Amino acid sequence: MLLENKYSHLFEETNEYNRKIVSFQGNKGKNIHGWFKYKEGFSEELVKNLIKKFGIKSGDTLLEPFCGSGTTLLVAKSLGINAIGFEILPICHLIWQAKSKIAQYNLQELEKIIKLIEINIPQQVDLTFPHLKITQFAFSQEIENDLMFYYQWIENLDISQETRILLKMILMSILEEVSYTRKDGQYLRWDYRSEKIQQRNQTRLIQNKKNIKIFNKGDIPSVKESLVKSLNIVFDDIKFSKMSNLMDDKSKQDFIQGSVLDLLPTIEDEKFSGVISSPPYCNRYDYTRTYGLELAYLGINEQEIRQLRQNQLSCTVENRSKLESLEKLYTSLGQHHRFLYCQKILNESKAFQEINNALEKRWERGEVNNKGIVLMVKDYLIELTFVILEMYRTCKKGTYVILVNDLVKYSGEIIPIDTFFTEIAEKIGFSPITIYILPQRKGNSSQQMGKFGRTALRKSITVWQKE
Ligand SMILES: C[S@@+](CC[C@H](N)C(=O)[O-])C[C@H]1O[C@@H](n2cnc3c(N)ncnc32)[C@H](O)[C@@H]1O
Repeated sequence: MLLENKYSHLFEETNEYNRKIVSFQGNKGKNIHGWFKYKEGFSEELVKNLIKKFGIKSGDTLLEPFCGSGTTLLVAKSLGINAIGFEILPICHLIWQAKSKIAQYNLQELEKIIKLIEINIPQQVDLTFPHLKITQFAFSQEIENDLMFYYQWIENLDISQETRILLKMILMSILEEVSYTRKDGQYLRWDYRSEKIQQRNQTRLIQNKKNIKIFNKGDIPSVKESLVKSLNIVFDDIKFSKMSNLMDDKSKQDFIQGSVLDLLPTIEDEKFSGVISSPPYCNRYDYTRTYGLELAYLGINEQEIRQLRQNQLSCTVENRSKLESLEKLYTSLGQHHRFLYCQKILNESKAFQEINNALEKRWERGEVNNKGIVLMVKDYLIELTFVILEMYRTCKKGTYVILVNDLVKYSGEIIPIDTFFTEIAEKIGFSPITIYILPQRKGNSSQQMGKFGRTALRKSITVWQKE
């Protein structure tokens, strides 16, 4: 509450930033941005608006520490702005590779491929989809065979490397549509026709339990239908972009795959003239689960998934503290003092102590049902503080840092993410400029609402400046 009062003068509730443009919704059907439905993304319109409003110009270099499907990088490319993005998920790397090569695609080659797919019928193949445990039975046998047929077919086509990557990304982008699953918040929902649900219901029958509530996805298109539809959209977008010369090839955008916590500390001082980003929210969403199908498709195995989950910013109850590895990293860079400085900032933060104590108490009283939540929130606050510290170091004077985030609530305890990090940023040296608040507010998960009632949870955009 103290933080709320301290920063209430910064709150600016505005319709300029609504839920549509601050989410992937705003990218649906949008040239190139719509190619892969990255539900956690924000929109091209938002990034364009912020670039204009905060005076980031052609020739500047933007930082996007959590670049996801590359929205910020792609907008930067269209405006001649250099950018560096960090992202941990390999699926995002493939998406970026496909989206960033518009100038290299050959429309005639693509047209030929679409025609070939239209006239050919998928054959039986021996390959099997490299499932993870959580993706088993996600497709019907026919769909799984066809997916592998096209996978192999793409590998064997005599085409440019860029086009092969594009096709691989398009095949990845249709996995959800042709599967028995739907991404739904933290989880995948499973259609009742999937063998996974049928097996579960059999077990429940033996246990005298009711069947799992039916979820029917409706008609599931064939792989061929879905592929042709997506390819046509991609073809039209590429044609349009080439005709209207939308993509600047003089500026440079680097997508660096890996954890920003490990990589940003290695970037030189005062490199960036702007930061536009949306960190993962502290909401228990595990991207390795949501994107299980796509990760499996890329051949990522169980052990690699566990590693990716650990390296993500702590947003799941499975995450373990990264402090030890961060200390090693900073020591190896000869920068142990920066590690200690970050610790000092947090130790001196009353809000940090209060949030952790409040959650600990709720855990002791049995109100928090998983100790992992207490640790996750603490680690999330620590890790994002490290990122903010590195942003301060790597930004030039005058740079605006613009971050989208959501408040979260656990067992009735609201974590004021935006004001918490505004205070941390201020301690580090940034000047808080504004906190835009989105007009509609949402509650928390249905479980939480049942027990603790619906409280409006803020979604906001914080703006700080290095002066
Ligand atoms: C809210 S999304 C950002 C989406 C992006 N703005 C877009 O438009 O696609 C947050 C991203 O942070 C990534 N992420 C999580 N932990 C990370 C880490 N340690 N280093 C780099 N990226 C990370 C997630 O994989 C996710 O793609």
